[in-house]
Amino acid sequence: MKDAAADHSAETIFLADYTPPGWLVEDVSLTFRLAPDATRVLSRIRFRPNPDGTQDRFFLHGEKLTLISARIDGAPVTPDVTDEGLTCAVPDGAFTWETEVEIAPAQNFALEGLYMSNGMYCTQCEAEGFRKITYYPDRPDVMATFTVRIESDLPVMLSNGNPGASGPGWTEWHDPWPKPAYLFALVAGDLIAHPDSFTTQSGKDVALNIWVRPGDEGKCAFGMEALKKSMKWDEEVYGREYDLDIFNIVAVDDFNMGAMENKGLNVFNSSCVLASPETSTDGNFERVEAIIAHEYFHNWTGNRITCRDWFQLCLKEGLTVFRDSQFTSDMRSAPVKRISDVIALRARQFREDNGPLAHPVRPESFREINNFYTATVYEKGAEVIGMLKRLVGDEAYEKACDLYFTRHDGQACTIEDWLQVFTEATGRDLGQFKRWYSQAGTPRLTLRETWDEGTLTLHFSQRTPPTPGQTDKQPQVLPIAVGLIGPDGEEVQETTLLEMTETEQSFSFSGLGARPVASVLRGFSAPVILQRDQDNADRAFLLAHDTDPYCRWEAGRALAKQALMRMITDDAPADPAYLGALTTLLGDETLDPAFRALAMALPSEDDLAQSLADTGHVPDPQRIWDKREAMRDAMADFMPDLLAQLFDAHQVPGRYAPEAAPAAARALANSALALLSRRDGGERARVQYAEADNMTQQLAALSCLLSIGMADDALGAFYDQWQSDRLVIDKWFSLQVAFAAPDQTAATAARLAGHPDFDMKNPNRFRATFGALAASPAGFHHASGAGYRLLADWLIRLDALNPQTTARMSTAFETWKRFDADRQDMIRAELERILSRDGLSRDTSEMITRILA
Ligand code: ARG
Ligand code: ZN
Repeated sequence: MKDAAADHSAETIFLADYTPPGWLVEDVSLTFRLAPDATRVLSRIRFRPNPDGTQDRFFLHGEKLTLISARIDGAPVTPDVTDEGLTCAVPDGAFTWETEVEIAPAQNFALEGLYMSNGMYCTQCEAEGFRKITYYPDRPDVMATFTVRIESDLPVMLSNGNPGASGPGWTEWHDPWPKPAYLFALVAGDLIAHPDSFTTQSGKDVALNIWVRPGDEGKCAFGMEALKKSMKWDEEVYGREYDLDIFNIVAVDDFNMGAMENKGLNVFNSSCVLASPETSTDGNFERVEAIIAHEYFHNWTGNRITCRDWFQLCLKEGLTVFRDSQFTSDMRSAPVKRISDVIALRARQFREDNGPLAHPVRPESFREINNFYTATVYEKGAEVIGMLKRLVGDEAYEKACDLYFTRHDGQACTIEDWLQVFTEATGRDLGQFKRWYSQAGTPRLTLRETWDEGTLTLHFSQRTPPTPGQTDKQPQVLPIAVGLIGPDGEEVQETTLLEMTETEQSFSFSGLGARPVASVLRGFSAPVILQRDQDNADRAFLLAHDTDPYCRWEAGRALAKQALMRMITDDAPADPAYLGALTTLLGDETLDPAFRALAMALPSEDDLAQSLADTGHVPDPQRIWDKREAMRDAMADFMPDLLAQLFDAHQVPGRYAPEAAPAAARALANSALALLSRRDGGERARVQYAEADNMTQQLAALSCLLSIGMADDALGAFYDQWQSDRLVIDKWFSLQVAFAAPDQTAATAARLAGHPDFDMKNPNRFRATFGALAASPAGFHHASGAGYRLLADWLIRLDALNPQTTARMSTAFETWKRFDADRQDMIRAELERILSRDGLSRDTSEMITRILA
């Protein structure tokens, strides 16, 4: 199969090979004559030689462009054109470059460059999409001001920056801030604005708009509030003010990712900006708020200060994810946000770090950069910032950030630049800390404790398993937050930060009366796997008494996991000690209902599979599923009265509001409902379904009915009610797959792919169907191999249209080496079948090759 891979081999690009651009761009002016099948793009670019570069070869990126004409300083030239761009002889010194090219947005199903979605023109240029619009040095270290003229009959025509002149059939935009091409955007369509305004801290008025298709006007208000909150928060917390007269957001139905921070013109997957009580769940509202904040925060961390090259992606993404998580913590519950982030990190990033796709937060090579918009770059990248802040302290963090913003405004930077401001602000040597950017893999932190006459000693050792291309790992700096709880449940040592730098290191606490229980890795102070021999009595003790919400939750999770593991490996019954401790916690009315809802959730099937593999077992996905079901039955049987009481006590009266407090009550009530439904034949769920006036309640009830196989009527009614709402119908698709019995998961996805509303060109719909298959381990890994075959069939089909989404979804297979030989053989065969396809994209071929390696 190596030969097949070689057919699609593309050049590998290395961080170490970075060289500065030969020419810089003064300014760019673009004219778009929009037409679905033949858009003309005219460019006028003023180049000058880069004194820090060499002028040996003038090269412009360009892909899938039809070159109509090219001129230098007004005189026609004939460049050498290849699939990847063009080269041309150019004068010494500065010159003006002009081209006219033709592109076909209506034929662009890759959703990269200029494409069409429901009759609307839009763009996605990050990372390397601008080269599908015109010939250009499409690299982030070339920054220029842009003037854009759009010509079409469409009523709304938008681009970056501030609006300029306009007339019948044309509009001009000017962006005064130099930017790399990946931040370019254009939108044109029959759109309606939800307008508002914001006055910045220095008193400048900014016009705000969320642009949507007619019919979606009623879903903008929440996003607009989130935007204004974000603008205010960035002023208050980071001192960052907005810098244009206008800020536009556009909702697009067909979009590969969540959203994009184009300067002054953010483009959003409609699922990440539109929200209404009737159509969106509490989770959707929280996500919309976070993504709006994320994209807005990029205006400083990403746009004003951008990346020198794509290896530095975490410079903007890790920092911006960290900033949006701070924002959410401030807007909602900080402990709940932290625990949710840990759950997501373990589910996505630890999984990635443990498999064939593991890579450093700052990768050192890639074939297709789109394959590196990963949980490692984003979420682990954010954890690294969090550790840095913890190590230097809040004040120094603020000082270093201020220095970063003043020193590097308008520049394209590296991780070295970022760390340098911290070195200067604190005098610290961050040499070892930098390993967090270069070493892949999740450190295993082992803790052993000794007690000797009033002194408790914590003996830590760290080890990071080998990852692809990195066999030997050096010790990393680990900030370990620790507290101690005395036998009476009182905290005898408040949180203190231990700084571990060696492979093995011990820390002592003396002068203690009686032996306390150590609460370790408080707030999840470092993204590591803590391995600790702790008995269930100590876990139950921490679950009852820990003052740190993360550690308290973690103690409960450890109990649940231990109990489930014993059910899986030893056929043990559900552990009554766990059920008892959980009952006590759930009944504690002093605890945030959202925290209690999180405590009620069991470790995921994937998490259990990984832990089984780590402890020398071969996970059987069906058995994991069966035992989780058995545990949930045991929970329902153990605490029926408490569950009924929780359900009744947390009904939220009155009008729906998406705020944290009512959402928390709903989360707890619906967690209780899911267990109650196992015993009441779906009675409560049916009532809730019938009475629901918001999507959170409706969907929770539908899920309960699906999980007990009694949803046929409700599913039909749900479809009839919502068939004209694409985002709600996405939920209808994914729930059916997610709640199918494991031997029906693949068949359900296959049946839905034949539904008239299935549209493989729409990434949201494709993900709703096949993402749900991949996220259902027992169904996806069913012994028949049907899940593997079906997903491979559809990935092959999708790759011809949309390589980016295909490549991303191929990660469904990344855990394959955990499983038994039969499953491995079946998966390998499917991966090889995909890889052997003629014309397979560079994106998918890189991913499959790495997964197989
Ligand atoms: N910068 C965007 C964000 O983090 C992600 C866009 C990436 N898109 C892509 N096709 N790789 O919000
Ligand atoms: Zn981002």
